[in-house]
Amino acid sequence: KELGRAPSKCVGPEYKSSHEKPTATVSTEIPHENVHILPQTSQLISLLTMIRDKNTKRADFIFYSNRIIRLLVEEGLNHLPVQQHTITTPVGRTYNGVKFEGKICGVSIMRAGESMEQALRECCRSVRIGKILIQRDEETSQPRLFYDKLPEDISDRWVLLLDPMLATGGSALMAVDVLLSKGVPEERILFLNLIASPEGAANFSKRFPKLRVVTAFVDEGLDEKNYIVPGLGDFGDRFYTL
Ligand code: URA
Repeated sequence: KELGRAPSKCVGPEYKSSHEKPTATVSTEIPHENVHILPQTSQLISLLTMIRDKNTKRADFIFYSNRIIRLLVEEGLNHLPVQQHTITTPVGRTYNGVKFEGKICGVSIMRAGESMEQALRECCRSVRIGKILIQRDEETSQPRLFYDKLPEDISDRWVLLLDPMLATGGSALMAVDVLLSKGVPEERILFLNLIASPEGAANFSKRFPKLRVVTAFVDEGLDEKNYIVPGLGDFGDRFYTL
């Protein structure tokens, strides 16, 4: 399979000149306007380096993944519309701020997407979270919907769809079809994802150009087993079992 070019950039604090900074592989650039890649800061690259390392133990994998997921949730929330909201501070002055007016919910694609629920709960108190289980059908090798449990009023909500790895996009595209069938408008879905393949990002953009994808990194491509490369292996196994 054809792999994209993974650019290298100097990474480190601004006060250091480029010849004092190490280089690191940063996210592949892709031309899709609805795919938002987190800023490739030294923090993010160091967190990704930890979770990509095959020698990282499960407890550390969980800890560093959670930090990246938290960044994704915070960035995802920046895509929600806000209204002007002026308040009075304890010293009697007003502050001209904003607040989010709508309702949101999370929907995790089981099992790996469930790893992202905690960060969403930490950022949004009492957030409703639905679940979708999609697995590859043994006979057809196509993704098949096995189970969904979603808030009844999901069509009135903004939906943060959670799945850490966007490989071909088969399961996530099917999950979006489920959300659309429940009446959620495409433009009210945000797909939060740790690592995407260029193919997965392109598939998403083509099928759902109004849906926003927020990802930490677009990798080089997919191998013959549709694992993301260089990737981090099987996210669910590393988070839940290994
Ligand atoms: N799911 C994973 O966990 N890893 C991949 O590389 C692709 C899909």
